[in-house]
Amino acid sequence: MRPVWRSVLPDFAGQQFDCIRTTSRQKAQAKVKPAEADIPHIFSASRVPGFTDGMLWKPPETLDELYGPLEKNLAAWRSGTAYTFTVETSELAFVGRVALRQTAQDRIWNLGFWTHPEQQGRGYTAEAAAAVLQLGFTRLGAEHVEACHALWNLKSRRVLEKLGMTFVKRVPEGFQKNGVWMAEDCLGVSREKWLNLREMALLNEG
Ligand SMILES: CC(C)(COP(=O)(O)OP(=O)(O)OC[C@H]1O[C@@H](n2cnc3c(N)ncnc32)[C@H](O)[C@@H]1OP(=O)(O)O)[C@@H](O)C(=O)NCCC(=O)NCCS
Repeated sequence: MRPVWRSVLPDFAGQQFDCIRTTSRQKAQAKVKPAEADIPHIFSASRVPGFTDGMLWKPPETLDELYGPLEKNLAAWRSGTAYTFTVETSELAFVGRVALRQTAQDRIWNLGFWTHPEQQGRGYTAEAAAAVLQLGFTRLGAEHVEACHALWNLKSRRVLEKLGMTFVKRVPEGFQKNGVWMAEDCLGVSREKWLNLREMALLNEG
């Protein structure tokens, strides 16, 4: 089953599209899923102990607490500051989320992702994140995309390495979890390097 990622909103950076296949050659069906439909899946993922340990958010107490973040995602999308995508299989099973957010620095974007524990370990995250990275470089004018992970989060690091990202810096006080600072490694890839890697991958495919 190949993953599909679809936008929370149908309009991306002024261009109309609903759904983009990742590596599959099949044409996707254009259809927008109501974003509220994601909420039970997000809640269920957050029930798994440790699921949010490598991310900034905490497990919500109730489903209702997830409507506020959804509204924030939609507002960020409308203002063009961050684009959050829901990843689904071609059979429309929920997989997870990938987000690309503008940073304070011009043309530098930040990538984040999570995958529902029931769907992890199938290569979906790397595939969906690669598609969103491509979007950043080809449609958003990104010159550099970066992502940070808690030092212990080696699965996340592996996904970033599969995207062509390499180590940029270590941040001892990366983010706080339950009042404790977590160190992070930040990785990144420039547009130029990504174009070279893509060219090499296409050559290998051909
Ligand atoms: C990080 C996360 C998205 C990875 O999801 P996933 O579905 O396992 O990702 P993929 O299947 O696409 O790839 C995982 C890769 O990590 C590798 N991996 C798995 N466990 C690993 C470990 N302990 N150490 C190193 N690599 C590991 C896998 O083998 C795979 O690489 P491969 O394809 O070369 O074999 C998922 O664990 C998650 O949602 N975690 C909770 C949220 C989170 O931490 N998000 C990231 C915040 S920075």
